Amino acid sequence: MAQLWGGRFTKETDRLVYNFNASISFDRKLFEEDIEGSIAHVVMLEKQGVLSEEEKNAIVKGLTGIREDVNCGKLEITEEYEDIHSFVEANLTERIGDAGKKLHTGRSRNDQVALDMKLYIRKEVIHTAEELEELLGVLLEVMEGNLDTYMPGFTHLQKAQPVTLAHHMGAYFEMFRRDHLRMRDIYARMNYCPLGAGALAGTTYPLDRRYTASLLGFEGPSLNSMDSVADRDYIIEFLSALSTVMMHLSRFCEEVIIWNSNEYHFVEIDDAYSTGSSIMPQKKNPDIAELVRGKTGRVYGALTAILTVMKGIPLAYNKDMQEDKELTFDAIDTVKGCLALFTGMLGTMKFHKEAMAASAMKGFTNATDAADYLVGKGVPFRDAHGIIGRLVLYCIDKNTCIDALSMEELKAISPVFEEDIYDAVSLKSCVERRLTIGAPGRGAMEKVIGIYKEYLDNSWLKEQYN
Ligand code: ARG
Repeated sequence: MAQLWGGRFTKETDRLVYNFNASISFDRKLFEEDIEGSIAHVVMLEKQGVLSEEEKNAIVKGLTGIREDVNCGKLEITEEYEDIHSFVEANLTERIGDAGKKLHTGRSRNDQVALDMKLYIRKEVIHTAEELEELLGVLLEVMEGNLDTYMPGFTHLQKAQPVTLAHHMGAYFEMFRRDHLRMRDIYARMNYCPLGAGALAGTTYPLDRRYTASLLGFEGPSLNSMDSVADRDYIIEFLSALSTVMMHLSRFCEEVIIWNSNEYHFVEIDDAYSTGSSIMPQKKNPDIAELVRGKTGRVYGALTAILTVMKGIPLAYNKDMQEDKELTFDAIDTVKGCLALFTGMLGTMKFHKEAMAASAMKGFTNATDAADYLVGKGVPFRDAHGIIGRLVLYCIDKNTCIDALSMEELKAISPVFEEDIYDAVSLKSCVERRLTIGAPGRGAMEKVIGIYKEYLDNSWLKEQYN
């Protein structure tokens, strides 16, 4: 049992208590961040005259040595330490002697862990944005190649009006673009350094918190030491944004599953992203899409858990907050995996364009346009609606579609119909005449695609690295 705080105690911690309290099994994930934060801290302490140059050099050398040794496998992070902070400090002192004991001057594990988590989340916010950007790129490609791929648009999962595959994909582009922007917002709001807050009330050492913050790439130091160690809003915001990403992925997956079904046959998921059945030789199942849909639950679970953990905690730090880690790490890993797999699945998916167009032809998706045609000939919309309703009923009875009726059949229902009806209700004109901003017509879509391209070319991620 390696602890940082034995002095005040006369008895050893009970083994079960020690295990219950320890966090090394999961906060070892914060190893890199812990080293990075400690280096910034001692560089600042030396600048402020709290540590000598030799002490600072020894500590920095010791810390980078530990980092190298862990990364190449020479040094193992073992469970004999209470947490990652104890592991680093104990190893440092073993390496460089007494100077190592000065690392923790003007710092508490409370502001240390707050910093480690912030550095970790900040990095993952960027990773998530990068993965979203890959997905947006694939979506854009599918859009550009499918401006004339007609398909039914649905409401209530009933065929409604014809759209294009490009337009349908564009809806997801919008969703994931909002997710992408959410990452930027979270990054900007969270980017203040808690180090120097101490346990809760700052410290009497002459720390230069602005300097530490700048060394670690923060906008500046956080402004209230109690809030600095008690704040986990950025984790909640990130988990909330990740939950939204999963909600979008899950909806998309549901559509892919429907489209991939034998009945729809709109798409075929690539063999590399499908699985078979152990008993039914003919099966090719959309397991990846189903799993992504299923894993949405655990990410929502993480968000609910952290909100619940935080809701009754008095200021400032309380050990409850150690519960922020496992679920957050799990949610991050889950979303990362889902985004990468989904992007791969989408990029390799085959779209059966003819099946989509045939389906759009069949389901009276041009009925609204037929009614609009009559309105154009002077029939009031409500009457036109009734006439086309009767026309649809007639078609259902004859198992045909509006486009396939003869002029006589049409005239029998309304004398207003003329030859130009056929063009008016063709799939092509139904789509191409929809040209308002955001509509599926090619002209409208091309403009929007231009905006999306520009968005990706000037992504905020690029600014981040400049
Ligand atoms: N393992 C702790 C956590 O994750 C680190 C902070 C411990 N601070 C303390 N005063 N016990 O929150």
